[in-house]
Amino acid sequence: MTLSAMRKEVHGVSLCMDPAREPCFRVVQRDSEMAQFEDEMCAEARREKMHRHMNNEIGSIEIAAQCLVDFPDAPWDLRMELARQTYDECRHVEGLHRRLKELGGHKGEFPISNFEWSVTNTQDSLAARLAIQNRSFEAGQMDLLGTLRTLWRSVGDDETAQLLEAILADEVSHVRFGNRWIKRLAQADGRVLLKVAMAVRFLDQANSAALGSETQEHLSRKRVDHARVEVNVDDRRNAEFSEDEIDQILRQFGMNSLAAARRKE
Ligand SMILES: [Fe+2]
Ligand SMILES: [Fe+2]
Repeated sequence: MTLSAMRKEVHGVSLCMDPAREPCFRVVQRDSEMAQFEDEMCAEARREKMHRHMNNEIGSIEIAAQCLVDFPDAPWDLRMELARQTYDECRHVEGLHRRLKELGGHKGEFPISNFEWSVTNTQDSLAARLAIQNRSFEAGQMDLLGTLRTLWRSVGDDETAQLLEAILADEVSHVRFGNRWIKRLAQADGRVLLKVAMAVRFLDQANSAALGSETQEHLSRKRVDHARVEVNVDDRRNAEFSEDEIDQILRQFGMNSLAAARRKE
């Protein structure tokens, strides 16, 4: 049975089965089952941030590696980008695991979720996977890391802030090659655009379904968290999003006035 045929149902949406994890990890399916903290920078919450991020980076290795397995006929240069990405993601995992331990934590300390893997691998084309993982999830990671480095610095932890900045620099290159190759693949075959559009729609459905099942309390907390994340305009530009696309993202983040102000620049 192929990977994409091995399914689970979460929030009424059919997603891929979770990847293997060591027995020390407890895998959950809903965001509300992840650890939550009143004080987001208390010692335990800091360790949970490292732990959650570490598992997301493990997922990034697996998603890129699975693309290499599933699309052996992809252009060589694109396969090289994916291979380099897996190497970068390994370094990210190592850095986060080291920092987690330095903060007194250990792997398996908190629940983990593999949402990105489960959504991305539903797609049967490489362009669609790049659209979901590199152009959507990792682009969102750029926004998050841009915000988090300031948060860690504000509590005096420069070491974690520097680690996140090093990771961010790599993520920009992953998003950029995703953007470049989606364009190239679409220029070579117009049907690619349809695959990408359907992938983005599926991602919206999966996100909505995941949100729809959460408790009101959890939802309002998520909205507060979301409101604090700022669009990383500089790095979105570095990753070759167009100015129109950046405006659209600012509007999605509820930053209409900023989008309008940029138009007058
Ligand atoms: Fe990464
Ligand atoms: Fe990445």
